[in-house]
Amino acid sequence: MTGSQAEAGGLRLGIDGAVATVTLARPERRNAMTPAVWRGLAEIGSALPPQVRVVVVRGEGPSFCAGIDLSLLAGASEGSEPIPGPDDPDFVQKIASYQAGYLWLRDPAIVSVAAVQGHAIGAGFQLALACDLRILTEDAKFCMKEPALGLVPDLTGTKPLVDIVGLPRAIELCLTARTVTAAEALLLRLAELVVPAGELDSAVADLVAALLATDAGTARATKALLQHAAGHSLAEQAAEERRVQAELLGNRMRGTGASPPAGSGSP
Ligand code: ACO
Repeated sequence: MTGSQAEAGGLRLGIDGAVATVTLARPERRNAMTPAVWRGLAEIGSALPPQVRVVVVRGEGPSFCAGIDLSLLAGASEGSEPIPGPDDPDFVQKIASYQAGYLWLRDPAIVSVAAVQGHAIGAGFQLALACDLRILTEDAKFCMKEPALGLVPDLTGTKPLVDIVGLPRAIELCLTARTVTAAEALLLRLAELVVPAGELDSAVADLVAALLATDAGTARATKALLQHAAGHSLAEQAAEERRVQAELLGNRMRGTGASPPAGSGSP
């Protein structure tokens, strides 16, 4: 890869022009996540260069991500910051700081793509859900394991899960903590595309190229418009389309190229 590369705390960031690739890079632990990883994700999001339009999230090795590092749940943190206990006065603030590692992937300024092979479990499934789009290999498997471990999914995954599969299926998937194969993920709309294992990189590259072929300001305005559609009535959304179109075309005529904010930022 040309462009810049940085690695810290089990995460690798590569930036090549308009494309940032975030790689979970602890394959010997199947990319199990710690607070350092969640904070690292948040830092990447907050410092993303403005020219970045597409963010690809991937995992090194056989699995995308095995979820939380189980040593943390067992109380051992292997040198990592421990997860907060219920008595921690900063419990809520700490969870919010972990969630920040996921929330930026929804920013209308970018399109995020999860490239998923092998397992995406718990916090790892939620990371895939935090992305706008998911490309899976045929061996990919999703599992919302948290309820089986006495936890609720709290890394922003519940809303996209319900939005994508609907409430009854989300209840079934979470409360049974069962595994969803790539074939079922496609049926449930949890995957945009399923490809053979050897074709993941080329499928992601094709999608990224297609996304970048659209004008940047238009892409940002359109994503924001679409994100707000579910919360609007038809009349409200039609009005929003008119407003955004006028602003987009006005900006283009004035040569500013700035993307109009649709609504109030990422939902
Ligand atoms: N935390 C810590 N270590 C892990 C984790 C994890 N979540 N997942 C895997 N590892 C370690 C294993 O202990 C093993 O270490 P070792 O080589 O020292 O024995 C190594 O990674 C490889 O794991 P294997 O199980 O041998 O790999 P395999 O490819 O056969 O299986 C799988 C991968 C399916 C992901 C399996 O490791 C697994 O089920 N992991 C636990 C998943 C889990 O329950 N995560 C918690 C979800 S809930 C949440 O995220 C909040």
